[in-house]
Amino acid sequence: MSSASTPPFTAALSAFASWLGKTPLYDAVAGVTWVVPTVQTLHILAIAVVFASAALIDLRILGLVDASKPIEALLTRFLRPVGAAVAILAVTGLLLIASEPSRAIFRVVFWVKLALVLAVSLATWWLGFAARRRGLAATEGGVATLDLKIIAALSLITWLAIIVAGRWIGYAVAWDGAPQ
Ligand code: HEM
Repeated sequence: MSSASTPPFTAALSAFASWLGKTPLYDAVAGVTWVVPTVQTLHILAIAVVFASAALIDLRILGLVDASKPIEALLTRFLRPVGAAVAILAVTGLLLIASEPSRAIFRVVFWVKLALVLAVSLATWWLGFAARRRGLAATEGGVATLDLKIIAALSLITWLAIIVAGRWIGYAVAWDGAPQ
C-alpha cells in the first residue's frame, strides 16, 4: 500500500508491481521451478552474444583487432547479433521482473542499467550508420576517425558497466518507500 507521502514514481511502480503479481504471467514464471533458472541462463547467453559482437565492432573501429579487414565486414557480420541479443535481453529481463515484481524495479542500479542499455544501443546503431555513410567501411584497412573511436571506446566501457550493474541488482537494497 502506498501512503500519502510516497513519491508518485514509487507509488506508480508499486501499483504496477502489485498488478503484475496477480497476472497469469507471474504464475507462469514464478510458479514453475525451472522457468526462472532457464530465463536467467538465456539472459546470460544473450549477454555473451551481445558483448562479444559489440566488442569486436568497437575494437575494430579502435583499430585493435582485424585492422586489415574492412570495417564494413565486421559491421555486416556483428550488428545483427547485437540487435537480436538486445531484444532477447529485453524479453528475458522483463520475464525476470515478472518473476519478482517488487525486486529489481525498486533498485536505482536497475534504472541506471536500463539507461545505459538505451544509450549504448543508440551509440552502436550510430557507429554502424556513421561508418557506412562516410564510406570508411568500404576502405580496405580503413581507419576510423577520432569521433568514431571515442564512441567505440565509450561503448565498450558502457557494455562492461551494464554487466556490472546487472550483477549489482542482486545486492542493491530497495529505495525508501518501496514495497517490502
Ligand atoms: C534490455 C533490457 C534489460 C532488462 C529489462 C534486464 C533486466 C534484468 C533483470 C530484471 C535482472 C535480474 C536482476 C535481479 O533481480 O537480480 C537482470 C540480470 C542481469 N542482467 Fe539484465 N536486463 C536487460 C539487459 C541487459 C544487458 C544488455 C546486459 C549486459 C550486456 C545485462 C546484464 C545482466 C547481468 C550480468 C545480470 C545478472 C545475471 C545473474 O547474476 O544471474 N542485462 N537483468
